Amino acid sequence: MKDRIISIEAMEILDSRGNPTIRTRVSLENGVCGTASVPSGASTGENEALELRDGDKSRYGGKGVLKAVENVNREIAPELLGMTPDRQAEIDRMMLKLDGTSAKSNLGANAILSVSMATAATAAKSHNVPLYAYLGGVSGFRLPVPMMNIINGGEHADNSVDLQEFMVIPSGAPSFREALRYGAETFHALKKILQSKGYATSVGDEGGFAPNLKSNEEACEVIIEAIQAAGYEPGKDIFLALDAAASSFCNQGSYVFQKSGSGTKNSTEMLGFYGSMVEKYPIVSIEDPMDEHDWDGFSAITKKLGDKIQIVGDDLFVTNTDFVRKGISKKAANAVLIKLNQIGTVSETLATIQLCQKSGWNYIISHRSGETEDTFMADFAVAMAGGQIKTGSASRSERIAKYNRLLEIEAELGESAIFGS
Ligand code: PGA
Ligand code: ZN
Repeated sequence: MKDRIISIEAMEILDSRGNPTIRTRVSLENGVCGTASVPSGASTGENEALELRDGDKSRYGGKGVLKAVENVNREIAPELLGMTPDRQAEIDRMMLKLDGTSAKSNLGANAILSVSMATAATAAKSHNVPLYAYLGGVSGFRLPVPMMNIINGGEHADNSVDLQEFMVIPSGAPSFREALRYGAETFHALKKILQSKGYATSVGDEGGFAPNLKSNEEACEVIIEAIQAAGYEPGKDIFLALDAAASSFCNQGSYVFQKSGSGTKNSTEMLGFYGSMVEKYPIVSIEDPMDEHDWDGFSAITKKLGDKIQIVGDDLFVTNTDFVRKGISKKAANAVLIKLNQIGTVSETLATIQLCQKSGWNYIISHRSGETEDTFMADFAVAMAGGQIKTGSASRSERIAKYNRLLEIEAELGESAIFGS
């Protein structure tokens, strides 16, 4: 057997915000090796698996990941040497056992996930198949519609927009390649419009613009204008989506629109706010409309709008089957945002996706606001065949790397590629 793991080595690298993160390489006896780098969020859910940081203020303000690196090299690696990388479930289970906590707080979810992802990447190479085919088998041929975050607010931008993300969804396009073009052209049209109105066109963490708009509504208005200026029809070629990331502006049950200075709302008033946004604009998806503790608010908005649009839980579900199960029983949403690093292993992420599939819920494979050039998630999105991906705007190479990988996969699949959900 030449495909046994002979080394697992981690190192500290930087993410797109210049903060440390972890990259791991798994090497096999036959010379094959695969690497994976772990992303990092800013508006994280409380119940996410623990991202282990050193806390040593003399390095990177305490954000170093040398302990996580050491955990891979000294704790995890010796346990896994000699195994073959296609035993994904077993490898993940062994790491969970070694860690022994539900939040992965001993070894760190960043340490564990880097090994989990690198294991899958290595197994695919060892079998001489692309990662999407290895992970998706015969169902790995559906290219996702991109949800492109072209205006950034909330914790991702220093501006006066409360909601975190305003996205365009070019689902009227005939293929991924064309959808990406629709989105990129809209992004460029938006830049011109913002410039003409005297707004800044610097970009936020996910590559969207971060102008100092006066209101959340104005963000939708300028996007509609941009879609038209690019030659597309809003509500036919291109739709809108929001990620409120409402936990980030909720204070003791009240939603505080502090950045725009437009006051405080309770859960019922938020419902009214979203209802009017959906009436005014072609919005087809709203993520984290309520705080992650406001299950009743989530159920109320799903009851009110869930037949018409997608209600997505991100901080609410943290890619964890326990929370998704609770959400299904409470009818708290109808879709789940999937982030590998919220839960910390490939196997557990697969379990959450399988639960969505079984329950008829949508799921969206997502990046984090702090990313690297790693393109694992692009292959993962095709393999999981959910038809939707969230990986930022049409700028910043850490976002574009995923789009370019999807273009590559689409070209490789040729006629057999299916687009969208
Ligand atoms: P995060 O944001 O990566 O900063 O958590 C992304 C999101 O909320 O979807
Ligand atoms: Zn979110």
